Amino acid sequence: MSARNPVDTGKNQRSAADLVLPHVAAMSGYVPGEQPSGEKFVKLNTNENPYPPSRAVREAIGAACEDLLLYPDPSAREVRECVAELYGVDADGVLVGNGSDELLSILVRATTAPGQGIAYPVPTYSLYDTLVELQGARPVRVPFGDDYRLPESLADADARLFFLCNPNAPSGTLVPTDDLEAFARRRPDAVVVIDEAYVDFADSSSVGLVGRVPNVVVLRTLSKSYSLAGLRIGLLMTSPDLARELHKVRDSYNVSRIAQAGALAALRDQATMRDHVSRVRATRARLTTELRSLGFTVGDSHANFVLARRPGEDLSNLASALRDRRVLVRHFTSLPDALRITIGTDDEVDRLLEVLRS
Ligand SMILES: Cc1ncc(COP(=O)(O)O)c(C=O)c1O
Repeated sequence: MSARNPVDTGKNQRSAADLVLPHVAAMSGYVPGEQPSGEKFVKLNTNENPYPPSRAVREAIGAACEDLLLYPDPSAREVRECVAELYGVDADGVLVGNGSDELLSILVRATTAPGQGIAYPVPTYSLYDTLVELQGARPVRVPFGDDYRLPESLADADARLFFLCNPNAPSGTLVPTDDLEAFARRRPDAVVVIDEAYVDFADSSSVGLVGRVPNVVVLRTLSKSYSLAGLRIGLLMTSPDLARELHKVRDSYNVSRIAQAGALAALRDQATMRDHVSRVRATRARLTTELRSLGFTVGDSHANFVLARRPGEDLSNLASALRDRRVLVRHFTSLPDALRITIGTDDEVDRLLEVLRS
């Protein structure tokens, strides 16, 4: 139902938009990539992993079903301890979320009052705009230069919170950890979030800054490298002091028993994740070469997608034509001359290339 539809046809009729806060009524809301049902598509539009999760996940989820009459562990202690061991961080500095999207929302709500600033270089993950709008906060969007290094003026932004997506989406570019550390140290008055949703597909991570630089928060997700987009697990790592504050904002039972059990099993099976990541990286290299030979401008990606551009051309028709041939890719109106293409299996990528060639 549209926000402007009446909720009552009687004499007390109100527009639904009058029942919510004005800034919420004015929003259009986040538009996720298409999740088709029914028809079979080659789905290269939402950066999921084309390979199945660890077999251990299914087993762990089955066992967790035995205890569904009980609430889950409120702070997901076992998952936090596993994360702490895996990444060499303090378990008291870890929060587990219903996807990293929930953790982003917690960060916004915990740090920034309506009217205060939240800054990020653009183009980047478009959910940041939505979360800022929802909070009634002020977006400070600083354009990346062609080199996709951190823009110099970003550190001067009047902001309580910074979002640094690294590797960045949709560019696939990676800012060196030294630059991120220097940035966070220049802004001890703000929380600096390094969103590492795609970092397992890159060569280096900034997780070593956690705890060492107290205002740094590193976010991870199990949706991409661990093939668990459907389970909804995000991980936040920071200093225990900051984590203690953020826990206050979290719903007490934000991660179900099933999700905690599945996350633990996936995190304990690093071999499966590494194997799938290396397959994706090999396909990424091949797709990059092939797209370049078809005349697209494609940067070296550090993520599980590539950004294929035809500078100056509007590629929305190409995205539609691909959809007609049952191949989904992502086209953003804010980046008209680009397609963001998720790395699928070799067969899926072959199908995409076949359609593009024709
Ligand atoms: C940069 C970035 N951060 C966070 C997320 C959200 O991940 P999750 O599935 O854990 O909510 C995404 C998902 O596409 C993303 O691209």
